[in-house]
Amino acid sequence: MGSMRVAVLPGDGIGPEITREAVNLLEEIVRLFQRNIEIQYGQIGGAAIDEEGIPLPNATLQLCRTSDAVLLGAVGGPKWDEQPGHLRPEAGLLALRKELGLYANLRPITVFAGLEGASPLRGELLQDVDMVIVRELTGGLYFGTPKERRQSGQEWEAVDTLHYTEAEIERILRLGFEMARQRRRHLTSVDKANVLETSRLWRETAERLALEYPDVTLNHLLVDNAAMQLIKCPSRFDVIVTENMFGDILSDEAAMITGSIGMLPSASLSETGPGLYEPIHGSAPDIAGQNKANPLAMFLSVAMMLRQTAGWAREADAIQSAIESVLAEGWRTDDLGEPGTARLTTSEMGAKVREALAQCVKRG
Ligand code: NAD
Ligand code: IPM
Ligand code: MN
Repeated sequence: MGSMRVAVLPGDGIGPEITREAVNLLEEIVRLFQRNIEIQYGQIGGAAIDEEGIPLPNATLQLCRTSDAVLLGAVGGPKWDEQPGHLRPEAGLLALRKELGLYANLRPITVFAGLEGASPLRGELLQDVDMVIVRELTGGLYFGTPKERRQSGQEWEAVDTLHYTEAEIERILRLGFEMARQRRRHLTSVDKANVLETSRLWRETAERLALEYPDVTLNHLLVDNAAMQLIKCPSRFDVIVTENMFGDILSDEAAMITGSIGMLPSASLSETGPGLYEPIHGSAPDIAGQNKANPLAMFLSVAMMLRQTAGWAREADAIQSAIESVLAEGWRTDDLGEPGTARLTTSEMGAKVREALAQCVKRG
């Protein structure tokens, strides 16, 4: 791709703080690599509710549809927590994922050199950790209907529906197999087949597909066991493929292997259209407005966007190296706080990474 158009959706809480730094980083990429990146802003989440009364205005959806990629900060916050479900900030993000057909959410987990002390796990458990969680993103409990609250006699009751078609399951599993093939050829499929019918269909589908991928070792783990094994021996995992809600929960857990949820990026991909790139964390209302948030998950999401959507591997590698060198020099944001390390604000960390990027490019 010669040039790219990016829809930037800052959202709520720390979203605008980390997005500002991500845009500064993109501008530095433009300067250092003579690339053409056109940025257009859109509103989503609570910010869109405040301005337009709904969490995903049509103009934002159109902007995303006509862009090459979407870069999103985070949505949500206590201000909107009492809104009915369809008018919550999160509903905007879910609708955007569904509308763009972003069925595959890739969440890579690696430990940066020097951050071992920030992880609650012992250093020896962190060696060789290199996995990716492939989370199904447009099905399951998040989207199944009925999804409602209703009165049954005197009582209120509520229902969410866990629904998957075989085609939806096959599509995400196939991606898991393909990714495993490009990596260490080990696929762990996570389900709850001892209880859930959707999981039994999931497991059967995985077994059927495995016949087409004899070079990939498939194993199944029940989700409760998977949550435990992630902490017991994280390096055993290569590609984990799982349904929407399990993937949501396991990836926040896996983030702590790396030291902080502020380190984990993600890419959400569809069959044809634009990809959406966002950190896995939320709007962090407890630290919003304090210039304290770690912007690195967002920067790593930018790197994923440049690599996957634009095909600009050199630029993505340079961002990765810049982050590595800043961390190796001991610079940290609060969330990574180990004794004896220098604490930077969000904007200071942004400036450090830009400086390191320029150095990387100078060195070649
Ligand atoms: P959260 O991820 O926002 O925060 C959890 C904890 O991690 C908090 O203590 C927070 O301060 C910390 N944290 C998160 N990101 C950080 C960063 N970059 N640097 C330093 N610390 C960071 O999860 P939550 O508190 O459960 O949710 C808050 C809001 O965010 C909710 O409204 C939720 O719906 C929303 N949310 C949005 C997204 C998204 O937009 N993709 C993802 C998760 C949660
Ligand atoms: C995430 C978030 C979202 C999810 C919420 C905000 C809808 O937790 O991106 O991980 O559950 O998918
Ligand atoms: Mn989540």
